[in-house]
Amino acid sequence: MTTAESNQQMRWTAKASEVAREAGARLREFFAQGVETEYKGDVDLVTVADRTVEKLIRTRLGEVFPEHGIYGEEGTRERLDGEFRWYVDPLDGTTNFAHGFPQFCVSMGLEQRGAGLKDDEDGALVAAVIYDPMRDELYEAERGKGATLNGKAIAVSKIATLAEALVATGFPSRKRHQNPNIHFYHEITLRSHGVRRAGSAALDLAYVAAGRLEGFWEFNLNPWDTAAGILLVEEAGGRVTNFEGGRFRLNSEETLVSNGLIHEELVSIFEDLFAGRDLMALPSPQEFAAMRAEREIKAKGLE
Ligand code: IPD
Ligand code: CA
Ligand code: CA
Repeated sequence: MTTAESNQQMRWTAKASEVAREAGARLREFFAQGVETEYKGDVDLVTVADRTVEKLIRTRLGEVFPEHGIYGEEGTRERLDGEFRWYVDPLDGTTNFAHGFPQFCVSMGLEQRGAGLKDDEDGALVAAVIYDPMRDELYEAERGKGATLNGKAIAVSKIATLAEALVATGFPSRKRHQNPNIHFYHEITLRSHGVRRAGSAALDLAYVAAGRLEGFWEFNLNPWDTAAGILLVEEAGGRVTNFEGGRFRLNSEETLVSNGLIHEELVSIFEDLFAGRDLMALPSPQEFAAMRAEREIKAKGLE
């Protein structure tokens, strides 16, 4: 990378971070005052905060990077034929936000698209900003230059086995009945220190980068959920693939990230799960009820 390219990147993250902080401050205000919730679908929520903050980000990014494209969750599609494109989630964790559960963030990832790329081909992720306004935590990454949290370098954790790992996942709010993730949640819960489901995929990714989690996976995310977090994890020394250990694609249909050390183990468990092998048995609710009734009888000394 030339010095000019390196300086350019610093300008991207510095300016984008200012925008993310302003957006986060607006989210904090909405959170404090409380907002009404609308439904985009079955349990897919949206609030005035999502829309207002996307508009704010669109305006501010347009001012600081007039040539960059913007692809936002709430519908922004601007200048998508250019070399650079921001994937923007103005509020990742809307369900949490709407319930007063303080786990959500602003996520902005910059993709550089070389000339001649087709619409369904990915460019390189070159800059990332995730801001958690409730904890005032700003995560930043630039391609080839590492990742930081509030200005300090971060790195993925050194835990080398799933049995000692804390990992995370998420569940979609669309087409919930077509999603098999509960089986993966069950199995990986039994084989690790635990699986967190905190409701913000972008923060889950940032937490892997910061070494607070050893891994994360989810089915069917979108590029606005993942673009920034993926670069953070890579720049913090972690690994990012699809569920087979192959190349991650920005359509985010399969997102599997880790500290690198537990990656093969996760890929192998995914393979077993898709093949229906080595599933761990749990008592059915009825079997559990029968065991409970038996215990009660014993406790009362009626046997
Ligand atoms: C959601 C969150 C959640 C994940 C869902 C996403 P949103 O994003 O990232 O953790 O499980 O799949 O849709 O709708 O709050 O921006
Ligand atoms: Ca999201
Ligand atoms: Ca969102």
